[in-house]
Amino acid sequence: MAVKYNLSSKAGSWQICYSVTAELMTNETAVLTRRELFLRAARCEPVPRLPVWMMRQAGRYLPEYREIRAKHSFLEVCKTPDLAVEVSMQPFRRLGVDAIIIFSDILIPAEAMGLPLELEDKGPNLPEPVRTEADVRKLHIFDPEVETGFLMEALRRTVKQAGPDVPVLGFAASPWTLACYMVEGRTKEGFATVKNFLYSEPIVFRELLHKIAHVTILYLKAQIAAGVSAVQLFDTWCGELDLTDYTEFVLPAVQEIISGLGNKVPVIYYTKASHHLLPAVVRAGANVLSVDWRIPLAEVRKLAGPRVALQGNLDPAILFAPAEKIRQATLDIAVELSGHGHILNLGHGILQHTPVENAQSFIHTGQQAALQQAQPAVQMRR
Ligand code: CP3
Repeated sequence: MAVKYNLSSKAGSWQICYSVTAELMTNETAVLTRRELFLRAARCEPVPRLPVWMMRQAGRYLPEYREIRAKHSFLEVCKTPDLAVEVSMQPFRRLGVDAIIIFSDILIPAEAMGLPLELEDKGPNLPEPVRTEADVRKLHIFDPEVETGFLMEALRRTVKQAGPDVPVLGFAASPWTLACYMVEGRTKEGFATVKNFLYSEPIVFRELLHKIAHVTILYLKAQIAAGVSAVQLFDTWCGELDLTDYTEFVLPAVQEIISGLGNKVPVIYYTKASHHLLPAVVRAGANVLSVDWRIPLAEVRKLAGPRVALQGNLDPAILFAPAEKIRQATLDIAVELSGHGHILNLGHGILQHTPVENAQSFIHTGQQAALQQAQPAVQMRR
């Protein structure tokens, strides 16, 4: 590949000097697919525009999703490959997003580990939570092609339907975020039960995180074998911990997963409300750090350096604002990193009642944003 670039730091800001060899400009037709665009951004390579997608992009704000959910329960959609493929493809067809995330849920592996799972309108419920050492021991190390074969089949079919030009993303929860649900049973403010477990039985709790990490490596490896272009780890609840506990308990389990995956595809690590944790989060080993809107991307770049790509970070609530505010806020984020190693996304999942045209405006504005960096002679395939 013929793109070379040098990085130098001047007065604390990173200067990027690209030199594009003749080979790229002449021999290659220099037309990028969405997949190449996404992977280049994830690797901090030059791009002609930002790749854009949205967390929870397959969901209830889309009428075609609601139509399917009127006939099938949430878990039925997850576990029926044809339905999961259809729902995964919907935001691509409707909005032209640059990546398709597979339709599933972070709690699917908890069920495969032996915990009954209910997903009701008011949120997930695990009626037999993990509370003791015996409960941790009982958790089942499952075979992802058997117990979650429906997901791997949905992935293979989605990858086939999307074709080679569009990246399909796999995902899992981080061990801490999954442990929050497995121990609490339900999402609660403050997470007293799971924290009490961590503080009173740190060795057993560490064993729980390690067991989840072990299972997650197998689960994500199976997704990679099914053809995903990248995987995302969701650590929605890491911000509940302080830096010391995060560093001591959560970080090693995340590092175990990322190093266990062996660099086969880029790993995106999403952390919410993690401002205070970033000095540790940057050591997770992720290729891409995905953050929420509470911290400017430029500030994360200073901590993470120029070789880690960033994903984010529009507040999903802005998608309820007037059109001009959505456009301006999107452009403000789009130019923040000058297009260097940036996958444009929301800072958390899209909200249920978001008007579809506002989601559309976010995607289109982001895709059309002019980047300030020197551009190699690469165009996007239409
Ligand atoms: O991003 C995508 O479009 C892929 C699908 C996806 C879902 N959940 C579908 C879903 C992904 C990546 C997730 C991740 C997930 N699930 C997270 C991490 C990201 C985040 O949002 O913080 C968490 C914490 C969960 C657990 C979960 N699942 C909750 C708390 C809820 C209920 C709250 C809600 O928004 O409804 C779910 C249900 C769920 N997962 C829905 C969807 C589309 C709504 C279910 C429905 O259709 O009724």
